[in-house]
Amino acid sequence: MKLTTKMLGATAIVAASATAANAVEMEVMHWWTSGGEAAAVAQFAEALNNNTDNTWLDGAIAGGGDVARPVMVSRIIGGDPPAAFQFNHGRQAEELVEAGLLLDLTDVAEEQNWAEIINPPSLLEACTYDGRVYCAPVNIHSWQWMWLSNAAFETAGVEVPQSWTEFVETVPALEEAGITPLAMGGQAWQQNGSFGVMAIALAGEEAWLAVNRDKDAEVARGPEYARVFEAFGAARDYSAGLQVQDWNQATNAVIEDTAAAQIMGDWAQGEFALAGEVAGEDYSCLPGLGEVAVLDTGGDAFFFPVTGDPEMEAAQKELAALLLSPEVQVAFNSAKGSLPIRGDVDLTTVNECTQKGLDLLAAGQTLPSGNELLSPDTITQLNDLMTQFWNDTSMTPADVQEQYAQIIESAS
Ligand code: GAL
Repeated sequence: MKLTTKMLGATAIVAASATAANAVEMEVMHWWTSGGEAAAVAQFAEALNNNTDNTWLDGAIAGGGDVARPVMVSRIIGGDPPAAFQFNHGRQAEELVEAGLLLDLTDVAEEQNWAEIINPPSLLEACTYDGRVYCAPVNIHSWQWMWLSNAAFETAGVEVPQSWTEFVETVPALEEAGITPLAMGGQAWQQNGSFGVMAIALAGEEAWLAVNRDKDAEVARGPEYARVFEAFGAARDYSAGLQVQDWNQATNAVIEDTAAAQIMGDWAQGEFALAGEVAGEDYSCLPGLGEVAVLDTGGDAFFFPVTGDPEMEAAQKELAALLLSPEVQVAFNSAKGSLPIRGDVDLTTVNECTQKGLDLLAAGQTLPSGNELLSPDTITQLNDLMTQFWNDTSMTPADVQEQYAQIIESAS
């Protein structure tokens, strides 16, 4: 993809301001290995290769973020860092920043006016530590979605539900028709992430903020959350018919109409798009599970390890500027199923699901993501508890609610 001369100006400013702009091979580590993710990250690689002197060396790691992040950290701490790596924006990179291992991008952010172009501003705040900018946010990805196979509900002889409550009412007909009501992969982040979406939808935004922002264990022990744990226990039963590991395998079951629904972030749209599925015709989407009108402003960002090499540093800063340029933002987010980090661009593919997300964003009906509020250590504890509950049907909702509240009580 060739950038316009206007956009080349942005990268040229950064390149010219750097001490050297020789050709650099840049290893970029990320965990985007599904079909949709790979199609999206290819847009970044193409933009770097076609518009700078540098070369993208793809460092994809399979297995999701919980597998990939430790590999990236070990490379950085081991003194063999990549040129750039993907994390979620928020608290994941706190310790690397505190250790002085990541490149300060504040000069790029100021030169490129990130404070004016990034929308919502919370995305730049989630890349800012002690007043300095350490990452380039590249998208808004919200967990707060449920994806539905229209054909699966038609086969079961029921209407496509417009809420989690209506979905639960269709479960007997789906099971009768031999369709798995809810598709869920076997990784802990998928189970804990889905629980968080159900908590916002069924306990409400205020209760979710009390628990995740304010660490209020009494709310976690309370009746609103008891309703969520009961529903999550039922969801465990709805997914028993499908045994897959990766999130996109679960999405594929919805695409193939063998499963009726999946709670998953809007990165799932990249899979529907790649399969040629049409929103509104082949699949439906319910932000906030159709129970609350909300989007979370989670997403991905690129960080750049300190290397001590002026040529690499110049190339890193050039790449950071390029990732936020309008054309690259449109090309990447259109393929990724995410929303752009700037309000002055129009995506090439805006289907009815993307439009629902854009409308929620424009209305300010947003929440921070768990990655912005909870430490990686707390998230790991919650992941471990929720996958234990998901896999051990002897655990009752009451058992897991108390253990959940204890983790929140000591959350950092
Ligand atoms: C998220 C990431 C998304 C998506 C998902 C599944 O953490 O923000 O870009 O790829 O993981 O891999």
